[in-house]
Amino acid sequence: HELQMNLEQIEKGGYEHFMLKEIYEQPSAISDTYRGRMLPDQGIIRMAGVDDNIERISNARRILIVACGTSWHAGLVAEYIFEDLARIPVEVEYASEFRYRNPIISENDVVIAISQSGETADTMAAIKLAKEKGAFVFGVCNVVGSSISRETHAGAYTHAGPEIGVASTKAFTTQITVLTLMALKLAKHKGTISNSDFRFHLQELERIPEKVKEALNSDEHIRGIADIYKNATNCLYLGRGFNFPVALEGALKLKEISYIHAEGYPAAEMKHGPIALIDEQMPVVVIATKKGHYEKVVSNIQEIKSRKGKIIAVVTHGDTEVRELADHVIEVPETMESLTPLLTTIPLQLLSYHIAVMLGKNVDQPRNLAKSVTVE
Ligand code: G6P
Repeated sequence: HELQMNLEQIEKGGYEHFMLKEIYEQPSAISDTYRGRMLPDQGIIRMAGVDDNIERISNARRILIVACGTSWHAGLVAEYIFEDLARIPVEVEYASEFRYRNPIISENDVVIAISQSGETADTMAAIKLAKEKGAFVFGVCNVVGSSISRETHAGAYTHAGPEIGVASTKAFTTQITVLTLMALKLAKHKGTISNSDFRFHLQELERIPEKVKEALNSDEHIRGIADIYKNATNCLYLGRGFNFPVALEGALKLKEISYIHAEGYPAAEMKHGPIALIDEQMPVVVIATKKGHYEKVVSNIQEIKSRKGKIIAVVTHGDTEVRELADHVIEVPETMESLTPLLTTIPLQLLSYHIAVMLGKNVDQPRNLAKSVTVE
């Protein structure tokens, strides 16, 4: 038993929990995921699974993304990226809903299945259904040789390394990295992106690991914020555009490991419901980075403030406007809008981590949850 304990300590590499280790591994996990695939100087992306099927994928009538949990959130981010860059219509579905609603799908569709474990039963069943209907199925998995990676026609692995914490962290950011590369590659092939824009995206993506490191520097500051709000019973997460799915993911992280009820919402939808919940007890986490409808988010923040909600804002480095309104700001470095999810996710992971630790919860193995759900 003692030997096992020691082994686990070694595996945690000096971190108190796997989740924290995995949060900190993101700079290298992201670069491991793009390394060898992208050559920014030459303006090239190589992905065998996409290269070998480039016509089939880029001529897709639409792309259907199926996934569960955090992987589904990565799919939502990808929807924004694929539509913006490659101009292919995208739908994102919970695998469990897709398989039971007699979906309209044909040989002209491309299905992308996203799964960290590659073993999720609902995602697997959705793939089988899509294949029966003649669709081309592309897998984005982390676990090499997993069931889903073997069932799909082609795929691209995330190179996140083993993820042990039940709450997914580095799998999410590496999924977004792979899907960004794929969208860029298709955009280039279809001519929906200029050569200079393409290169600029690659150069910016190459800088992301460094910027994730910078975002991680807010860890102590975030711990202080966690200490203030750890006893909240509810929490709202808001974001727009590319950062709307990040709001969903931030709320999921808090629910999963701290058991605090949290809701993610597109910021503009707030007025259609969640605004009724806002009072002086309610922490509201708002992603308010520059670009991406910044002014609109600022006015959402004003609405929260006038109802006395407590505002925790994730902002672009150097921001002054939101700083004046918010109770707390957490800065992330500036990057192009489509890449902001890779940065804005980081403080939300840390916030939920610290709250869960302070509440004495089992961070790596939250109650009732499993790392991979192989039953329906
Ligand atoms: C479980 C895990 C989540 C994960 C989801 C999908 O619910 O607890 O962290 O996001 O399954 O798993 P997958 O392996 O398919 O990405």
